[in-house]
Amino acid sequence: MNATGRTAPPASPPTSGTAAEIRLEGVSKVYPDGTVGVAQLDLTFAAGELTVLVGPSGCGKTTTMKMINRIIEPSTGRILLDGEDVTRVDPVKLRRRIGYVIQNVGLFPHQTVRTNVGTVPRLLGWDKARIRARVDELLETVGLDAAQGDRYPAQLSGGQRQRAGVARALAADPAVLLMDEPFSAVDPVVRERLQSEFLRLQETVGKTIVFVTHDIEEAVRIGDRIAVMSEGGHVQQFATPAELLGRPANSFVADFVGADRGLKRLAVTGIDAADLERPPFVHVDDGLAEARATMDRSGARWAVVLDGAENLHGWLSAERATGAGTVGSAARRMDAWVPADSSLKAAFATMLQHEAGWVAVLDGDRFLGVLTPESLHAALRRSVEGTVPETAGAV
Ligand SMILES: Nc1ncnc2c1ncn2[C@@H]1O[C@H](COP(=O)(O)OP(=O)(O)OP(=O)(O)O)[C@@H](O)[C@H]1O
Ligand SMILES: [Mg+2]
Repeated sequence: MNATGRTAPPASPPTSGTAAEIRLEGVSKVYPDGTVGVAQLDLTFAAGELTVLVGPSGCGKTTTMKMINRIIEPSTGRILLDGEDVTRVDPVKLRRRIGYVIQNVGLFPHQTVRTNVGTVPRLLGWDKARIRARVDELLETVGLDAAQGDRYPAQLSGGQRQRAGVARALAADPAVLLMDEPFSAVDPVVRERLQSEFLRLQETVGKTIVFVTHDIEEAVRIGDRIAVMSEGGHVQQFATPAELLGRPANSFVADFVGADRGLKRLAVTGIDAADLERPPFVHVDDGLAEARATMDRSGARWAVVLDGAENLHGWLSAERATGAGTVGSAARRMDAWVPADSSLKAAFATMLQHEAGWVAVLDGDRFLGVLTPESLHAALRRSVEGTVPETAGAV
């Protein structure tokens, strides 16, 4: 599970349980002019997972993807969809079981969004009422309203077109979704929103997704697993985002993921109870002198203030812990806090935003502990056990 938002419960129950494993065995593609697009590729895409193919231009990502739905025929090898060899299946029928989203969406320009979305159900011979109901459902799922459904692709924004493309690909509830740089045509802000929406959608539909990008940030953000490819479709590393960033298999991967991979790793690493520090804490009804004594005993300049139910109330600095009042009269509000299921990146961002030296971690209202820059660094090290922390200083 990726720490960037996969923990939210699905908005509605899965539309169906369809997801298929895709296995590539010794797959090669030699183009007629002799170019080797992909050479001897073995790769398994787990059912229900989102696997990202990433790598430099021309390394064979699109070739690999198009062989799965046989838009490109492999020269050698086998491709198995839940154990069935796709090269023995009628390619037209095969493509109806596989949703496909390409760069610039590829919507039919002379058809409305509704007609576009209903394409595969129509080909499958569904009756009109069923198609209509399915199209309504999908427009809602991807966040397009009825009026947008009646427009032509040119009358939509790039992001809306992208959503229509995803809706069309999902129409017949395919077991597999192939997506080739689907978000590359939109600006970075819209792209990030589409990525979040798409992750939420995947929570609901749980498809086997093969997603091509050359953007490592995107790969790390959305992938359950990532295959880093070099020329000829050679897989240099196949790993989870955290493994890839924390333990690149070789210099090719290390170069590709970039020198700032420590920062990227923050986004895919969750907070663990073991990372938290427990600063001295006092209660809101304690006297200030008592609170000061507690801080002095542990040599701390501040303490966390809890209420009667052990929930976070605020914090108290040693300077303010003087006089006869109670802790409650001198405590300050604690704005620098994050929920326990946040990523380390969110925790770090909160710390910076409040110019705080630490950030409190809460489970609901319950105070669990604080993260400091030191504990953030330790957490990064923990996330890839055995790794020499080359990223020292990244936090
Ligand atoms: N029809 C073709 N005939 C000859 N060579 C081709 C053909 N299609 C692709 N290639 C070559 O095969 C290699 C892999 O191409 P592919 O399109 O799979 O790359 P890619 O990883 O998707 O790149 P990009 O990131 O630029 O989209 C490239 O060297 C490309 O030039
Ligand atoms: Mg490509």
